[in-house]
Amino acid sequence: MKQITIAIDGYSSCGKSTLAKAIAKELNYIYVDSGAMYRAVTLYFLENHIPIIDLQRAADEGVLHHYIDKINISFENNPTTGVSEVCLNGRNVEKEIRTMKVSESVSMVSTVKEIRSKLVKIQQEIGKNKGVVMDGRDIGTVVFPDAELKLYMTADVNERAKRRFAELSHKGITASLEEIKINISQRDYDDTHRSESPLIKADDSILLDNTNLNEQQSLEFVLDLISKII
Ligand code: C5P
Repeated sequence: MKQITIAIDGYSSCGKSTLAKAIAKELNYIYVDSGAMYRAVTLYFLENHIPIIDLQRAADEGVLHHYIDKINISFENNPTTGVSEVCLNGRNVEKEIRTMKVSESVSMVSTVKEIRSKLVKIQQEIGKNKGVVMDGRDIGTVVFPDAELKLYMTADVNERAKRRFAELSHKGITASLEEIKINISQRDYDDTHRSESPLIKADDSILLDNTNLNEQQSLEFVLDLISKII
């Protein structure tokens, strides 16, 4: 069967990863959570006490590569779930990257052009043979502008906060519903207003508002689109 590239962009916590994983499982495609890569880079700066506020200045002064060159981002398969998990310099950091501390810092890290260029290259390399589902903010606009299927996802912010709260509780990460809602709204704003690769709907992407859809309904909607393409 013809292999395609599926790009899923959209707002924070609207179920992009859940949907992308389900599609990848259904089609036996590679799934890549590009947000996890930005989170892992953020974790590196936090763990190494490198102030995130200074990253842009370091980039302007031409010295950011001293840090960036020390960061290696890769994925490893979790044999229990069958899903790929992100590694920072060879260490699986899938749980650490979901903390509120990382969530609060990641949008600032992701504004830096040099960091984006490094991660986009890795993403394009992973997807070069197609058969990939990747979710993020710039997948259909920058990483894979020629993707055969592009989705742009959104959902009501209260619904998204509730889902995120449930997900974090399930993972044993503590955060209040209000704190999560503020973080999501802030990241929505930051991601859509930055100058480097902002979150925007590609002209040829299909809008999916899943506020009132469950996971299975969203999956069926997309599988129907895919069957028309393949
Ligand atoms: O997808 P997730 O919410 O985990 O992404 C975390 C953050 O990483 C986003 O809020 C955004 O700032 C950044 N990001 C990005 N480009 C991507 C994926 C994520 O800028 N392709």
